[in-house]
Amino acid sequence: MEKESRLLNIGVVGAGPISQAAHFEACRKARNAELYAICDLADDLVTQMAAIHHPHVTYLDYDEMLADPHVEAVIVATADQFHASMASRALAAGKHVLVEKPLGVTVEECEALRKDVQASGLLLQVGTMKRFDPGIAFAHQFIQDEIGQLLALKAWYCDSTYRYIETGNLQPIPVTSAHARRPAGNPKADKRRYYLLGHGSHLVDTARFLGGVIVRVQARLVEKFGAYCWFVATEFADGSVGHLDLTMAVRMDWHEGFQVYGEHGSMIGKTFNPWYLRSSEV
Ligand SMILES: NC(=O)c1ccc[n+]([C@@H]2O[C@H](COP(=O)([O-])OP(=O)(O)OC[C@H]3O[C@@H](n4cnc5c(N)ncnc54)[C@H](O)[C@@H]3O)[C@@H](O)[C@H]2O)c1
Repeated sequence: MEKESRLLNIGVVGAGPISQAAHFEACRKARNAELYAICDLADDLVTQMAAIHHPHVTYLDYDEMLADPHVEAVIVATADQFHASMASRALAAGKHVLVEKPLGVTVEECEALRKDVQASGLLLQVGTMKRFDPGIAFAHQFIQDEIGQLLALKAWYCDSTYRYIETGNLQPIPVTSAHARRPAGNPKADKRRYYLLGHGSHLVDTARFLGGVIVRVQARLVEKFGAYCWFVATEFADGSVGHLDLTMAVRMDWHEGFQVYGEHGSMIGKTFNPWYLRSSEV
């Protein structure tokens, strides 16, 4: 990819698996951006990632990276529990932000961050990347341009019991460090919370992207044989109805997609496990 003459200098904080699989290369490949800085508290990780990706500078201290006037935007790729506060600090330092999903772990910290964004005049984007899946982007455009009024939307995100066999084969092996900072306790211990934040955030984002603002939800949860199934009745601002299905995990292949019924047409979408880097079929 040929680079443009004006490049956005990006500092990535968090050199863990998602930065290794996505953000470092995305910054390097983007024609309008530069991987300017890598920051992590784990010095061994920073050294290894710098050897592979050649940022201009590295930092072991987030505040030092934020004080660097050359950093124009920050990607926050740390654990969920750190997102809101680290995003807020980046805004306070005058940097645009791309923060990994989920935006935060409480409604209150997300609301506070919304105020920080509004006060800053800067851009903050959440790393719910399914909007950039060409199939889902097409579905969004079709709804905007052609479908007319919406009647109903169904969307499902059902993890597979074979997921870790599949992703274990597909994913590159991440470089790990004993010095990486993790949140206190075990955030995965509370499965309801963990599934809703980690996976439900993708489902809700797709539903909002296609159906618009959700004004009412009524969720039912069934837990059996170690599986969790949420059926969520939703109502959109335009009066259309929705049904969201978050199931962890189905005894079948990865099962994600959506159906939209509109005035002038309908759509069915099938989304693939993200590690296939394959567009949804719509
Ligand atoms: N968009 C997606 O589909 C997707 C996929 C996978 C992960 N994620 C999200 O990405 C985030 C990161 O995931 P991960 O698996 O890479 O996490 P991780 O916890 O394994 O790695 C995060 C890194 O951040 C570093 N870090 C934490 N606090 C820091 C600080 N104050 N200063 C500097 N470095 C700090 C840690 O040392 C660690 O190396 C999570 O929120 C996860 O939900 C999103």
